Amino acid sequence: MKLTFSVIKADIGGYVGHSDTHPEVVETVKKVIEEEKEKGNLIDCNILTCGDDIAIVMTHTHGVDNEVVHRIAWNAFEKGTEVAKKLKLYGAGQDLLTDAFSGNIKGLGPGVAEMEFEERPSEPLIVFFADKTSPSAWNLPLYEMFADPMNTAGLVIDPKMHDGYTFEVLDVYSGKAVKLSTPAELYDLLALIGSVGKYVVKNVYRNYDGEIAATASTQKLSLMAGQYVGKDDPVMVVRAQSGFPAVGEILEPFARPWIVEGWMRGSHNGPLMPVSFEDARPSRFDGPPRVIAAGFQLAQGKLVGPTDMFRDPAFDKARVRAQDMADILRRQGIFEPHRLPAEEMEYTTLPKILKKLEGRFYDIEEQRLEKGQVMEKEDMD
Ligand code: 13P
Ligand code: 13P
Ligand code: MG
Ligand code: MG
Ligand code: MG
Repeated sequence: MKLTFSVIKADIGGYVGHSDTHPEVVETVKKVIEEEKEKGNLIDCNILTCGDDIAIVMTHTHGVDNEVVHRIAWNAFEKGTEVAKKLKLYGAGQDLLTDAFSGNIKGLGPGVAEMEFEERPSEPLIVFFADKTSPSAWNLPLYEMFADPMNTAGLVIDPKMHDGYTFEVLDVYSGKAVKLSTPAELYDLLALIGSVGKYVVKNVYRNYDGEIAATASTQKLSLMAGQYVGKDDPVMVVRAQSGFPAVGEILEPFARPWIVEGWMRGSHNGPLMPVSFEDARPSRFDGPPRVIAAGFQLAQGKLVGPTDMFRDPAFDKARVRAQDMADILRRQGIFEPHRLPAEEMEYTTLPKILKKLEGRFYDIEEQRLEKGQVMEKEDMD
């Protein structure tokens, strides 16, 4: 039996500001999903939250991009939005960009990460969910999980992993994707995915048999809404063990925090801090960016879990280091590279300011020469 694992997420209102979700909203979303499970439309479901974002985790047999499943998520977010509006939560319904569902939730605002596979005798997988960042935040850890043997010993010692993995990389501006096979094309891959503003990893496949290993939400709302609204806090699903990286190899990249984009007003860089479910409530300068890891085992499509993978003191040092990195970046204030370059900012007043100052700009070289001539005349007198 082919099983589909779908995670669909949205920010439908922040409590308070962009920090957290409201329990009443989360309960409402959960109720809609559970009713659908009771009706037999889903095998199982679960809700995760990270910061002001809600993720709906669903197992079913309808396949990816399925209208029934996407409609369930859309309806749940719409119902949740009604409550968020009643409570006047911040940015109520912010990720629902249209009033009407049109068969597929992609392009309508929410982020989607889905994969279809034959459930293995044991099927551990991890859902990563981050707030105050963007889908390209997964580029670095996906490289380490699936292409760096210094992170993932299995690439060397597991026969099913030894042929490497193929990364499907999306150019978020053109909408075109390219598949790159590692280790052979590793440097080509890194040349692309190091450019986090342009390229994001969409899927990872095992070369041994083409099996799907990981999938990420790659929605970048800036391109959908025609302007940089960019509320695209991402999710990712990674399969673990026996032919895939071990759970610990999948989590290991997060032990060494790196810098991602999306902090404060979606317009700053900051360290991605791995936290427990409990601590996914970013508030310092609306951050720093957070990531949770929810571990599940599947049993005939039933979700056994989640277990809170970053609730481990072994990640304490990463949390402290992330705070040190946050201090270093905060020192920069409004200056780059803490603040993103103008073209990557979620919103900016720069064009307006430039418009206002239009006509006041002058050629500094010309003016110097003119002044020089004036001086020479004065000297002659
Ligand atoms: P255990 O010996 O605890 O089962 O761990 C096996 C393993 O390979 C962990 O990476
Ligand atoms: P979210 O993307 O989590 O809504 O945060 C937006 C923001 O501007 C925070 O400062
Ligand atoms: Mg928000
Ligand atoms: Mg958010
Ligand atoms: Mg955001």
